[in-house]
Parts: sequence; C-alpha cells; structure tokens
Amino acid sequence: MKNILFAASECVPFIKTGGLADVVGSLPKYFDKEEFDVRVMIPNYRMIDQKWKDQMVYKTSFYMNLAWRNQYVGIMEMEYEGITFYFIDNEFYFSGDHPYGEIYQDIEKFAFFSKAVLSALPVIDFKPDVIHCHDWQTGLIPVFLKDTFAQNPFFWGIKTVMTIHNLKFQGVWDKNTIQDITGLSSYYFTPDKLEAYGNANYLKGGICYADEVTTVSESYAQEIRTPFYGEGLDGLLNARAGSLCGIVNGLDYNEWNPWTDPYIYHHYSAANFRREKKKNKLALQKELGLEENEKVFMMGVVSRLTDQKGFDLIECVMEQLCAEDTQFVILGTGEPRYENLFRHYEWKYKGRVSSNIYYNNERSHKIYAACDAFLMPSLFEPCGLSQLMSLRYGTLPIVRETGGLKDTVEPYNEYEGTGTGFSFANYNAHEMLATVEYAKDVYYNHKREWNKLVDRAMAADFSWDVSAKKYEEIYRKLTY
Ligand code: ADP
Ligand code: GLC
Repeated sequence: MKNILFAASECVPFIKTGGLADVVGSLPKYFDKEEFDVRVMIPNYRMIDQKWKDQMVYKTSFYMNLAWRNQYVGIMEMEYEGITFYFIDNEFYFSGDHPYGEIYQDIEKFAFFSKAVLSALPVIDFKPDVIHCHDWQTGLIPVFLKDTFAQNPFFWGIKTVMTIHNLKFQGVWDKNTIQDITGLSSYYFTPDKLEAYGNANYLKGGICYADEVTTVSESYAQEIRTPFYGEGLDGLLNARAGSLCGIVNGLDYNEWNPWTDPYIYHHYSAANFRREKKKNKLALQKELGLEENEKVFMMGVVSRLTDQKGFDLIECVMEQLCAEDTQFVILGTGEPRYENLFRHYEWKYKGRVSSNIYYNNERSHKIYAACDAFLMPSLFEPCGLSQLMSLRYGTLPIVRETGGLKDTVEPYNEYEGTGTGFSFANYNAHEMLATVEYAKDVYYNHKREWNKLVDRAMAADFSWDVSAKKYEEIYRKLTY
C-alpha cells in the first residue's frame, strides 16, 4: 500500500473558489484503493459551513515554530465518501471571510500551512510516500522537506509532486520578509532557487524542489514553456521539461450528471435530451425573469470575471452578443468593470440578459443544464472545468483554442460531421463573435446537426478514470 497526501488550499465540498477545489475534492476518490491510501489536508477556514464543522473530530494539537513565531496547530479529521480529510486549525490565519486575502497576509498564512502540513505528519502517524502539492499555496512544502525536516528520519524518502493549476499565481513577495517568515537561510534566496526577479516566489520553490511537476492539460504543459504563457518562469519550466507533464482534469461524473442532479429542474440523459433538456430552459427563464420561449438560443457564462477568462473580448462585442434572437445568462463575480458591464446590459435588455453577480453552486448547475451553448473565450486556460460540465449537460461550448479548452473541445466540422463544440484560434473579439454567429446558424437552421453535436458532446468521456491512472503512474515511478 502506498500512502499519498494531497495538500491544497481548497477542496469541495468544504471550500471552493474555483476549479482547484473541484480537482482536489474529486480526484482522490478515483485512485485504486487496493494500492493507494490517499488523504487530503486543507486549512480549517472559519468560513467552512457549520454542517461540515459538526462532523470534524478533534485529533490533536501542538505548537510549531515559524521562524521566531510560535504558532498553534490544531488537527481536525473527517472521513467523507471514503477519503480521510485533515483540517489544519489556526484562528489567527484562517478566520477571514474568504480563503484568500491581501497577498502579504496570504504569504504568511500559506508558509504556516505548508510547514504545519509537514509538522503534523509524525503527530498523526501518517507517513506519505508522496506528497502531492497543488498551486503556490503549497509550493514551500518541497522546500521545507529538503531543508527544515531533512534531519528527521521520519521524512526520509518522501517524494513530492507539484501540480500547477494556474501559473499566473505564484505567491510572490519580497525576499527579506519571506526569509523572516519561513526561517529559511539566505542559501535559498538565489535565482536558481526561490528568487525570481528580485523577489521570493513560492511556486518557483515548489517547481525547483519537487521530484515531478505536472499541470492540468497537455497543451498548457507545452504553452508554459513559452514566454507568452510562461509568466516569467518559462526558462525554469524548460529546464525542468524532463520532469514536467500535462494530465487533463476529469470531472466528478456522479456529482455532474443531468440524469440525477438534485439541483436541476428536469432530469435528462443522452437518450431524451431532445425533449427534456428544454424544460430546464423554460424553468430557468421563468426563474430569472427572461422571456419564456423554449426555441430561443440561450448562451451561458459561469466564471470568475477576470481577464484570464476573455471578458475583454466579450466587453468589446457585448452589444452584438445581446442580439434579439439570443438570451445571455451570466453567473460570476470578479473585477468590478465586468460586474458592472453585465449589470448594465441586464438593465438595457431586460428579459433577454440575466446577470447574476454572485457565487451560487446550485444556480451554476441550473445554467449548465438550461443553456444551449456556453461561452468561454479564455486568454489562457490551464484546463477549465466549466466546458467539461457543459459537455456533460449537452450544452455546446464555444471556446478559444488554448490550453485545456483546445484539448477537450473538438471543433464542429460540418463536412465530416464531427466535433463537440465550436472554437476559434486568435484572441480577437470579432473572431469570437463570428464563431458565436456560426453556432447560432447551426442552432437555428440546421437543428439535426446541432442535436448530433449534442449527442457527441454528451458521449465525450471526461470522467477521472483515465487521468487518475496517469497520476498513479507518476506515484509508482517515484516510489518504484
Ligand atoms: P477556474 O478554476 O480558473 O476558475 P474552472 O473552469 O477550472 O476555472 O473552474 C471554475 C469552477 O468554478 C467551475 O466549477 C464553475 O462552475 C465554478 N464557478 C465559477 N464561478 C462561479 C459562480 N459565480 N457560482 C458558482 N460556481 C462558479
Ligand atoms: C485553475 C485554472 C483552471 C483549472 C483549475 C483546476 O483554476 O484556471 O483552468 O481547470 O485550476 O485545475
């Protein structure tokens, strides 16, 4: 039996701000239980729902040094859907009303978390063969393992995997402060280790010191080795290319299933979507105050409203996207500029545009089920889960060909009768608009073809089965 520990800053169903939580919460369930004992460690944020807190069991606590600071570390435990979860408790760091705050606070918060993860292991008597770290918040774990914990035989032989879910966020702050927080010696703060462009960088530390580096699609693994997508670390990623690979994310097909989904109005499947799916559209139109018309083309967006997701393209041609023969439903929060853009257009085109500027999981399910198409014109996209959810619900994705979007959405080819969605290559608003117009033409004028696209989209398999096996291969390779 091999022991694997996932360390991350978010995880469904406990705490989620984006796709990272979906991955950390679902992937562990898909490993071969005969061979791997996979457990998960996340912070015990105060904002985790009381319903989950009530199920946590206090395991132990101790005090830990973080340079000159001496901090409390509590460990709570819970078993959920066959997986053991540990929650690192500390009110000073984890009592905010959001998992992330100002970067200078987060820098200390996640240095604490990373060190606490390692310190907790001997105390709970769980020795992982592999620690699987996710994103910059856990980038210091491979560093601490090689430094602070290297003298303790308990930690000998533990391997690390660093998975990059988004290279944009690296955990960067000034060197002196980070040295003061981590207690790491100046040896670590050179350009071949934690230093990058004069600052210290947690993710860079993780990439330098992890045994294996992965990211969440094959295309993104290639892209981040170029200056455009490399966010300043393309040189390092090229240097580590021999230990870098892309494994596309899967989806929890039990949670995201239009046949059983408790949040949607009407269940449907690949066999009966032609009749049943539109009932979801009618119900959503009623709920959101849109004109009730099962025939109108409904396009959805569920997203963080940031530049990454291509909202400047949407902004540029918003007027044309809100055409009379289209309904546009948006669910998201983020940059005020985009929040206000969508509020304005809802006001301008009442009954046609619905802007839901908040976070709501239940409503996201309803939107994936109700819409005909889903718009995701990202500037860059490590993997993207929203387009996988759309495919699963027979809602055709309209995407830009980048990263995981390129790897998961096959563009419609009207001559060969292939494809599962629509896509365009260049980051250009009018190229996007032309692709939306093309999708609408197929929807309105070639309905049989549209329905065959939906057939293929719903048949596409992005369950975890294949990708979990690839991670298993990495764990085996690292531990023989
Ligand atoms: P990212 O992690 O970059 O935000 P992904 O596509 O990987 O992008 O994952 C986003 C996840 O967050 C999806 O599960 C999506 O449904 C969800 N999501 C984003 N915004 C909202 C929102 N406002 N309400 C509910 N769910 C949301
Ligand atoms: C990040 C990426 C997204 C990816 C998710 C899970 O948030 O932006 O593309 O799907 O992580 O890996």
